[in-house]
Amino acid sequence: MNTMSKIGIIGAMELEVESLKAQMTVENTTTRANMDFFEGKLGEADVVIVRCGIGKVNAAICTQILADLYGVTHVINTGVAGSLNAKLDIGDILISKDVIHHDVDVRVFGYPLGEVPQLGTREFTADESMVTLAKETCTEVIPDCQAIVGRVVSGDQFISSKEVKDALIANFQGDCAEMEGASIAHTCYLNKIPFVIIRAISDKADDSAEMDYPTFEREAAKHCAMLTKEFVQKL
Ligand code: ADE
Repeated sequence: MNTMSKIGIIGAMELEVESLKAQMTVENTTTRANMDFFEGKLGEADVVIVRCGIGKVNAAICTQILADLYGVTHVINTGVAGSLNAKLDIGDILISKDVIHHDVDVRVFGYPLGEVPQLGTREFTADESMVTLAKETCTEVIPDCQAIVGRVVSGDQFISSKEVKDALIANFQGDCAEMEGASIAHTCYLNKIPFVIIRAISDKADDSAEMDYPTFEREAAKHCAMLTKEFVQKL
């Protein structure tokens, strides 16, 4: 591990951060924007762990606080997601190659679907070395689990219909859908902070999602936490 690294770890829900928090040594806790930031050691790594709440606005606010208040050198977003890729089953892992806002639409002024005007990019690319390291760690830590490097699409919607899922695949070639990644990536892009998103699949983002999600979210979140803990030791 690089001694200069300070790693921000963001989960949207308590379930996604509780096991990491339980394993860390907390040195300092600060509350900002109604979010509790736990600063300390996770194994050998210097980390700040925070539950940002659900959705893109919460996630962006949280990421900016990590940048401003803690000067984090890396950001990891961990949690669960709905699968958009037939090869990704419940419990499998998706590591972000890149991320897109699927609910941004300014096509009327000539921007591609998903692109925020005047930003100059539609896709936010994850840090290549973090992606490679996350994939390697996944093979070591949860060898029975499949890990794919692919595209995350984010919006302020829980995807639970085949029709919407098919549109996300057709429009964005997404591999998984969730509700925070793009705004975390967007904030990292503006602040020039390397990031990666690591999501475990909790449902298939179709008509079965509503049933599957509560059943599998715990198992999926556990996979993510195991992977994230080992991953940060290597950054
Ligand atoms: N997080 C987990 N499953 C999801 C889904 N189907 N849509 C959006 N976010 C999710």
